[in-house]
Amino acid sequence: MNEGASGYMIEAHGLVKRYGKFTAVDHLDLQVNKGEIYGLLGPNGAGKTTTIKVLCGLLKLSGGEAYVNGKPIPDRRIAAQIGYMPQETALYLGLTVHQNMAFFGEIFGLTKREIGERERDLLEFINLSGWRDEMVGNLSGGMKHRVSLACALIHMPPLLLLDEPTVGVDPELRVSFWDYFNDIKSQGRTIVITTHYMDEAGHCDRIGFMHNGLLIAEGEPGELLVMTGTDNLEDAFMSFSASDRKGAEQ
Ligand SMILES: Nc1ncnc2c1ncn2[C@@H]1O[C@H](COP(=O)(O)OP(=O)(O)OP(=O)(O)O)[C@@H](O)[C@H]1O
Ligand SMILES: [Mg+2]
Repeated sequence: MNEGASGYMIEAHGLVKRYGKFTAVDHLDLQVNKGEIYGLLGPNGAGKTTTIKVLCGLLKLSGGEAYVNGKPIPDRRIAAQIGYMPQETALYLGLTVHQNMAFFGEIFGLTKREIGERERDLLEFINLSGWRDEMVGNLSGGMKHRVSLACALIHMPPLLLLDEPTVGVDPELRVSFWDYFNDIKSQGRTIVITTHYMDEAGHCDRIGFMHNGLLIAEGEPGELLVMTGTDNLEDAFMSFSASDRKGAEQ
């Protein structure tokens, strides 16, 4: 494939990731359009986090090929284009909220002034303006999660890879997170998000269902319901995974 020719933000062909002999991601074909919110859904161990880590260059792929914004991965230069929020928050507990955010801002070459401006907006968004100078180690689990999200957003990257960003976040704030994700989308930026909350998945433009490292179904939320004759995404997933099992047995 010609580099940059596709126009997709993410394009993967036959992407494989093995841990030793175990195949965690099995010949994944994935295309994510620029400016869309794509949800990766699936049960524990389906391969969602592994896929995201490969896409952001933290894990080397074992097979296939993948491109981010037209560039083959892994490539260190792509890092600046990605805001990655890991499933397990990776913050410096002995530093304040401000110091953590400034650290991530500096890594991506933001000036002090830019960091200050972005930090003000983001703290407001995660509803932690009054906690700027608090040690991250003193925050609750959900609050740490919110700071982690703010750190992923500080350099305003064109692609956000968010691994369960709303886990442990209270319902009211989760709603405002989705308003914010839609804002990001309206700026033409792209979000890939994993979640176990099926109500949230309905906010995505498209969803990919993963099961045992395979992408077993993909489409707009409404399409997936029509395809399975169900009225909720949980049942739709069950229906796809049941037919996947049946297919494997035959
Ligand atoms: N470092 C590792 N070494 C070996 N196996 C791993 C490693 N990381 C993940 N796995 C395995 O790969 C599979 C996929 O894991 P992954 O974390 O990608 O799943 P997930 O879909 O993100 O699940 P969850 O919903 O629980 O976050 C699992 O069977 C897991 O045990
Ligand atoms: Mg995971």
